[in-house]
Order: sequence, then structure tokens, then C-alpha cells
Amino acid sequence: MSRRIHIFDTTLRDGEQIPGAKLNKRQKIEIAEQLARLGVDVIEAGFPCSSPDDLAAVKLIAQMIRGPIIAGLARAVKSDIDAAWEAVREAERPRIHVFLGSSDIHLNKKLRRDRNAALDLAVEAVKYAKGFCNDVEYSTEDGSRTDFEYLCRVIDAAVSAGATVINVPDTVGYAVPNEYGELIRRLRERVPGLSQVILSVHCHNDLGLAVANSLAAVHNGADQVECTINGIGERAGNASLEELVMILKTRYADLAETGINTQEIYRTSRMVSRVMNIPVQPNKAIVGANAFAHSSGVHQDGVLKDRTTYEIMKPEDLGIKQHAIVLTARSGRAALKHRLGGLGFNLDKDVFERVYNRFINVADRKKEIGTRDLQSIVEIEVSKVPETYTLQSLQIMSGNTMVPLASVTLIKDGKALTDAAAGNGPVDAVFKGIERIIGVQGELRDYDLKAVTMGRDALGEAMVRVQIGTTVYSGIGTSPDVIEASARAYVNAFNRYFINGHGLDPAQKAR
Ligand code: KIV
Ligand code: ZN
Repeated sequence: MSRRIHIFDTTLRDGEQIPGAKLNKRQKIEIAEQLARLGVDVIEAGFPCSSPDDLAAVKLIAQMIRGPIIAGLARAVKSDIDAAWEAVREAERPRIHVFLGSSDIHLNKKLRRDRNAALDLAVEAVKYAKGFCNDVEYSTEDGSRTDFEYLCRVIDAAVSAGATVINVPDTVGYAVPNEYGELIRRLRERVPGLSQVILSVHCHNDLGLAVANSLAAVHNGADQVECTINGIGERAGNASLEELVMILKTRYADLAETGINTQEIYRTSRMVSRVMNIPVQPNKAIVGANAFAHSSGVHQDGVLKDRTTYEIMKPEDLGIKQHAIVLTARSGRAALKHRLGGLGFNLDKDVFERVYNRFINVADRKKEIGTRDLQSIVEIEVSKVPETYTLQSLQIMSGNTMVPLASVTLIKDGKALTDAAAGNGPVDAVFKGIERIIGVQGELRDYDLKAVTMGRDALGEAMVRVQIGTTVYSGIGTSPDVIEASARAYVNAFNRYFINGHGLDPAQKAR
């Protein structure tokens, strides 16, 4: 039978300890409301004794949020416990969370007390908190580095004093999964009182093992996992809520379940990242921008045939609209066709091949091809005129102390024709080079250049209107290189001139 694992979210307390991530009241409420929608069991809303502002924020959360338990953190000190109670007392389900170091390192170096004195302090604090609130969590800070026999004594005493939750943190992220799992298992065996309370774990990520350690603890009898959205928290952070929840859902659904509405995970992650101003790394498991983005052509082909080829979770289950097919130079025809279909383009074979070739050409120079890039590529290929001349290459020499020079190569009837020209600017030099090859002069009436996509590698679109003889012809060209886009537009205008029969020999006109 599946065990119910309690999710204790400490984004607003341990997460908020990150330098620069301090939140105001309104921001804390916004996140707390979302955590409640996400379905966490406990919201640790803050450390009320740390500042009057934090106390006020936790109080507001306690007044406003219904559903989850609202916890306030306190050291094993009366004034801290008073502040925590003042903050959470109006919650529908309040909890006071008391902590005290238990390892010899903490006792000797930080608290400067012997084991017996610290144990007395713990018992006193739990009893004091219990005088206010029925639900009291006691944390043996640095539990994973604490002498086992002493840890058992502290836990036993805290349970006898009335603690309803016992938390055994890996405060410094020192534990490894088999050892931490074993610790939880042995504690359950040795402290009978643990069967009356919730046994919790709280893992830090200093060695990158916070989630693995939490999972090992769950396998060995932990009932509650303390974690944060996006894994944020003190130093290297805490166990990531979304990772732990999705591991349980994806791999251990028959053993353990949580109350998390996974469809709210992505939204929550985005909100926390935005409000706290902490970006999520693109390759972050579950919620990173690339977590469901397929970029290799082989993977894209597989996913389009059947998503399970390269996806172990459904993005929709996390509230992510759909898996992303990222169009890059590595994408194949299947991915391009899929994206074009989504944009409403059903191209016949020839046009599709032209679009594909241009797409590869642009993608070679641009990291990622977005929707607007694609639309522009299709527009050009669909409205294409027969190409009497095709731009093959161009070279520019330009600078603010020299006359710009351009060398242009066009292809006509399979033959490469090259010429060079100087101009008033690089674009003018290119246009003159084109005219020298074609042997016809045009007069530029209009020239418009715009970026059709965002970013420094944006696709530039050039539009020209060129008067040739008495008629004005328009031309359009795109490229991440704006001078090349201009050259393509200019050649395109001349090609329109030629389809009117100009400049062709009689045999070509007759065809
Ligand atoms: O890391 C830790 O030990 C803590 C306690 C306050 C639970 O954050
Ligand atoms: Zn912590």
C-alpha cells in the first residue's frame, strides 16, 4: 500500500535565507497562496523572531492561507518561541518549529554547552512551545553528524516532552544516501516513541545529494520531507520539492504518494524564480527551460513519432503546455514539418524543400529558429519568383576611414559571375556590384531594414523598391547578416524585372 509522504515547504524560510532573496509581505503572500494551490502539507512561512517585518509577514500568511499547516521557526529560546506563536496563532492549523544543535561540533563550538545541558534546553523549549500550540516540531540541527546514542536520547526526550514532529536534518549536506537512509531506519528501530509522531528529514545540497538523501530517508521510514521550490536555500540549497515529488510519482507511485497537485509545479517554479529574482538553470531537472526541449534531429523525430521514446514524464503533468521542439541546425525535416503544421503551413513538396534548405542556411548562423523566423522564411519561399540570378557569396571591406568595397558573386545558368564595386556605404557597394554583374542599372526608391526576430542574432529582413526603366520592382530578402539580407532583396527585385521578359534572349522569352 502507498504511504502518504508529507511535503513541508520551506521556500519562505530556508529559501528566503539566500542573500538578496528577502521578500516583502505582499510577495510572501503571493508565494504562500501558490504553495497552497500546489498542495503542500506545511508552509514554513518564516523565522518570526528575525525581524518585526518577518513576524508580520508570517502573521498575515497565518491569517489568510487556509489548508496547509503554517509553521514559524524558533530557536530553543523563549523569546523566539513567543514570536513564532504570535505569528502563527491565527492559522487554521498552526505549528511551532523549534530547533537546537545536537552534534558535538555545534554543542562545543557554537552553543558552548555539554550534551546534558543542551538536552534539558530542548525539553524545556518543547514544553514551552507546547504550552501555546499542540503541533510542535523539534529539529535536531546537524542531526546527521550527531553521535547516534545522544541523538536517540534527544529525540526520545523531545517526544516525551510533547513534540508531534521530529526532524533530523542533514544541516551541512554531509550525508550520503545509504548512510542517511540507514540512520533513519536505525532511529525508527531504537526510539519507539517515533511511531507516535511524524519523522521528518531536511537535507541540504552541499554535495548535490539533498534529493537522493531525502529519497533514501523516505525508503527507510521518513514520513515528511522538508524541501524548497527550485531547490533554493542556504548555501547550495535544500532538496528540490519538484524533483522529489516527481521521483516519487514517476518511479515509486506504488510505494509513496504526496498531496501535491503536480500541474501547479511549473507555475510555482516560475513564480518563485520571478519574485525572488533567482533564475532557474536551463538544465534544471523538471522545471528548467530545457527539461522538455528536444533539439537533436534524432530525438525530435522519435518524440514526434512517440513521446515516450525520449520523455519519461508528461510535461502537461507539470503544467507545461507541451514538449518543445527547438528548431536548430540539428533539426530534421520531421521537426520542421511539425512546427510548420502548427503554424498552419501545409506546404507542397517543392516549396517545403526550399523552405528546409533556407531554414538550414539560416539555422547554421543562428542558434535557434523561432516562430517569426520561420514565418519570414516561408513568406519568402512561397512568394518566390524564378531566380534568373542567385546570390552565392559576398565580401565587404568597410570601415569609418575607407571607401567601402564589395565583391559579389551571383549564379546565372549554373555559372558563377563575380564583380566588385566601391560605394557610399557597404550596402551601396553591394548594390553596385550586383548591377555590374547583371549589366542593368536600377534606382533605389525605397529601402527598409528591420529585425524580424529578437536578440543579437536576430533575422534581418530587407525590403527594397527599385526603379528599373519606367517600372518599380519590389524585392525582399532575409538573413541574420543585414548586408546579405539587403543583397538578397536587391537581386530579388531584379529577378522580378526579368520575369517580365526583360533582358532575356528570344529563346528564353518564348518559353
Ligand atoms: O538546516 C537546518 O538544520 C535547518 C533547521 C532550522 C531545520 O534549517
Ligand atoms: Zn536548513
